[in-house]
Amino acid sequence: MTVLYEPRPAEAARLAALLDPAARIAADPHELAALLAADPGEPLVVFGPGAGTAEATAFAAEQRLRGPATGVVLLRADAGPALLREALRAGIREIADPGDPQAVRQACERSLELSRHLAAAPWPGAPDGQGALPATGAEDGSGGRPGRIVTVLATKGGCGKTAIATNLAVTLAAGGRHRVLLVDLDVEFGDVAIALQLTPERGLADAVAMADRLDETGLRSLLTSYRPGLETLLAPLRPTDGEQIDGALVGEVLRLARGMFDYVVVDTPPHFSDPVLAALDLTDHLLVLSAPDVLTLKNTRIALETLDLLGQPAERRVVTLNRSGSPVGLTPQDVERVLKVPPHAHVPSSADVPLSLNRGVPLAAGDPAHPVSRAVADLAVRHLHAVPAQEPRRGRGRRGLLRRRDGRI
Ligand SMILES: Nc1ncnc2c1ncn2[C@@H]1O[C@H](COP(=O)(O)OP(=O)(O)O)[C@@H](O)[C@H]1O
Ligand SMILES: [Mg+2]
Repeated sequence: MTVLYEPRPAEAARLAALLDPAARIAADPHELAALLAADPGEPLVVFGPGAGTAEATAFAAEQRLRGPATGVVLLRADAGPALLREALRAGIREIADPGDPQAVRQACERSLELSRHLAAAPWPGAPDGQGALPATGAEDGSGGRPGRIVTVLATKGGCGKTAIATNLAVTLAAGGRHRVLLVDLDVEFGDVAIALQLTPERGLADAVAMADRLDETGLRSLLTSYRPGLETLLAPLRPTDGEQIDGALVGEVLRLARGMFDYVVVDTPPHFSDPVLAALDLTDHLLVLSAPDVLTLKNTRIALETLDLLGQPAERRVVTLNRSGSPVGLTPQDVERVLKVPPHAHVPSSADVPLSLNRGVPLAAGDPAHPVSRAVADLAVRHLHAVPAQEPRRGRGRRGLLRRRDGRI
């Protein structure tokens, strides 16, 4: 249920009709405090246009510590960049124009989705340190525990998104121990099919015809198998076939898929397209890829700032430096200075990566003991809490998998 803070009764009634006829309305800060005290698990508090901005930011900042699963949405007709920054800094999740009913509803829906995630799952860094799977799959109708969505993102082409996404998907599938779906959201120039030498007979574009009524059988009919445990949902062969794939459809696909798979790995185009934004809303672990050259690092920093503005939680990010160790004259300090955060994970540079992509066999499949495969496995164990698949063939044991790589680029 929703709490609506709006001092003007007529506006409060209009918003309640729009959002949730059962919403509880607070007309002043005391009423708001009383409602929250009575129901501390409230998932959504909407500050209407009659509420003061300072009231909203103060409430959000406090609530972030008191009950982070409670989302705060602010309704403002003319939100400029200054207000946007202030609001995001305070922890307000969304700002929407009260005159645009669809925008208001969507902002509230996104915030509720995030609250459901936060309420269900402790994330890395949470007290139990496990980043456990969310507790129930009821919302998916699967009855089981929903799988985790891992999105690989970089706002610059050529960072290695497809290389990492394919290797990660193979690693997580662990030879068939886990069910993994690799989704290619680069609807214009997707190349997961090429990287795995698959011939797409059907794919994401065919989901358009099933929009709003996609079910498990329908989704399965669109998949292409790669190896035991690993299915793919491929991008269209012709860029124009991807035009109708929008965020709503991608949200529908991913919600369904996480009820069917243990992990859903999402490869993305190098920009924040509508499908990517929809995926981000559902993403449990976001791999933000960078590479050790100043232009890419700067680009990554801007991407991280954009993610902040979008309200994507920083604690779900795994900033990953790909091609680390390339002889490009940058120290770890240089990397951190430009990125403004130290990378969480490193994947070394190796000419075997393009060779393996050309052969259609990711290194994680063809050579699990390769340093690149080991780095991806390390990332999966350390940051995605995956269970190590097998002892590496070259006999370095599990301790090798967990070896610290910090301080290297
Ligand atoms: N760790 C790495 N070492 C060497 N080459 C890499 C590495 N990662 C990616 N590459 C190469 O960089 C190029 C771009 O990678 P790709 O995965 O297609 O990037 P993106 O999907 O981000 O556009 C490919 O030729 C790939 O083989
Ligand atoms: Mg790619």
